Parts: sequence; C-alpha cells; structure tokens
Amino acid sequence: MKVTVVGAGNVGATTAQRLVEGGLADVYLVDVVEGLARGKALDLAQAAPILGHSCRIEGGESYEAAEGSDVVVITAGIARKPGMSRDDLLQTNGNIVTQVVENVRAVCPDAILLMVSNPLDVTTYIAQQLSGLPRSRVMGMAGVLDSARFCAFIAMELDCSPADVSAMVLGGHGDSMVPLPRHATVSGVPVTELVPPERLQAIVERTRNGGAEIVSYLKTGSAFYAPAASVVRMVAAILRDEKRLLPACVELQGEYGLDGLPIGVPVILGREGVERVVELDLNAEETAALRASAEHVRATIADWQRLSGLS
Ligand code: APR
Repeated sequence: MKVTVVGAGNVGATTAQRLVEGGLADVYLVDVVEGLARGKALDLAQAAPILGHSCRIEGGESYEAAEGSDVVVITAGIARKPGMSRDDLLQTNGNIVTQVVENVRAVCPDAILLMVSNPLDVTTYIAQQLSGLPRSRVMGMAGVLDSARFCAFIAMELDCSPADVSAMVLGGHGDSMVPLPRHATVSGVPVTELVPPERLQAIVERTRNGGAEIVSYLKTGSAFYAPAASVVRMVAAILRDEKRLLPACVELQGEYGLDGLPIGVPVILGREGVERVVELDLNAEETAALRASAEHVRATIADWQRLSGLS
C-alpha cells in the first residue's frame, strides 16, 4: 500500500508519521518548500530501526514519485491564525489546492483523494471538479475530527474513558457544523440521559469552536495531532477495506435533500472509498441545521467561483 501526503507541515508530517509507524503504508511526502519533505522523511526513516516497522518513507518537491499511490492526502496550504475563520483561507488555499490536484492528476489519476486543507468543504469541491473522479474517490476529512472533539468533551464532562464515547457531527466544517447529541452514547447509554441539557448545549458549542480554541492557544498555527489521527482513521478504513461507518465530506447526489455540493454525512468507507452514503432519520431541528450548514457551504463555493473567475 502506498499513500502520498501533500504538504509536509504539521498535519502532513504527523499524518506521515502515524501512517508509517502504524505499519499502514509506504509514504511519499511532498512539499513545495525545498528540502522540507525530504528532510522530514529522512528523519522518519531513521526512526524505523528503533520503532521496528518496515514501511518506507521518502520525500521531495516533485510529484513523479507519487505514482502508484492508493490514496493521496492533501494538506497543502496555510493554517489559521487567531481571529481567522476557515473561510478566510479560501483564496490562498483554493489556489494551492487547484495546483496540487492538477499535479496529482498527472501522475496518479485514479488515486483516492482525501482533502484536509481548509476551507474543507470547498477544497473537496475543487478536487471533485478538477479530478474528474467519481464522488466515491474524492472526500474530505472533517467529521471524524469534529466527532472526536465532541466525544472528548463528553468524556471530560463525565470523567469517563473517551474510548467508550461514540458521537457524530455532520454538516460543513465550520461554525455551522451539526453535532448530533441525540445520537451520542457512552457504551450504548444515550448521552442525553447522562448529561443535563444545558451542559450538553455547552459541549455542542465547544465542539463548534474546537478548532478556534486550539488556534487561540497555539497562536501561530492550528491543530494537528487530532486532525492527523482522523486522517489516518479514514486511510486505514480505505486501505484495509474496513467498511467503517464514519462521517466524511462527500458530494451529495440527492441524499438529505441536497444535490451537487460536498458536505459532511455518515458514509461507509472501504477499499472503493465512499462506498455508500448513510441517510439518518433526522428530526426537524437537525434537518434545519443541516440545511443551514449546506447554505453556508454553497455560499462559500460561490465565493470561490467568483474569486477564481468561474462565474
Ligand atoms: N504544494 C505543496 N505543499 C504546499 C503548497 C503547494 N503548492 N503550498 C503550501 N504547501 C505546504 C507548506 O509549505 C507547508 O509545509 O503546506 C504545508 C502546510 O503546513 P502548515 O503550515 O504546518 O499547516 P498545517 O497545520 O499542516 O495545516 C494544513 O490543513 O487543517 C488544515 O487548516 C489547515 O489548511 C490547513 C492545512
């Protein structure tokens, strides 16, 4: 198995590390900055004898060595600074992702694309448009991360193991995301029976601001440990054909009453990528929140189309 990771910054390098050290795949790390991917790959390769894994890792600036990749993870771009929303990255990261997808398409046109660069829903849209791939092979990582944040905050509230908490966040990867408290459980016990409503609402709000909270501490960049772990969860589901039910950003084709835009929904993830979109029976409030989130994503895509001269 081979995975190319584009962008050797915080998310990309941590993803590469987890992939090889977890024995999941050989990795090619690529970055536009001369020497950065090469240096980090060499450093990671030198840890292999200590950690005892056999995965190969190389780095470089060009894309030829990406040939034969099963999955390409795209983290290239700039990260948020305090006070910035993910949408503030639109022009810079939209242009970077456009260039990266074209480069990737030239060497591995059939590889599954996993987008990470923000604003996530729009970069997934760009990759979907440019790649010409079926929607099953183009997806974005956001829901796994947002859901993990939701689970972590529930575990902190209850002082229980995060391993026992299961929850789902749908919608766009931004302030309009849709955490689903009604579907959250601790070892099968509904969280709504364990946490009072006002505390649960505070957890929902903290989840929506989970990325910004970390940016406010780091000041010079955004989260990367949990994002990289989320990417690796999705890559593992694909490479091992696990058929995991996970949230992923994928173009909807009528599901949830939405069409032609990527947004976070539950999917079955396996060797073919997004093998199926799972439609939950949402109540009126959840449906309204998902629709509102979709409107926000549509507006940001329209902004991108204006910026890039597509409309
Ligand atoms: N091609 C390849 N790599 C690029 C390009 C490009 N055209 N443009 C920028 N990069 C690289 C940068 O050189 C840098 O090494 O992308 C890397 C980004 O790394 P960081 O600045 O550390 O950002 P990171 O925290 O990894 O976040 C990357 O993921 O979570 C999102 O919002 C986040 O959009 C951001 C992305």
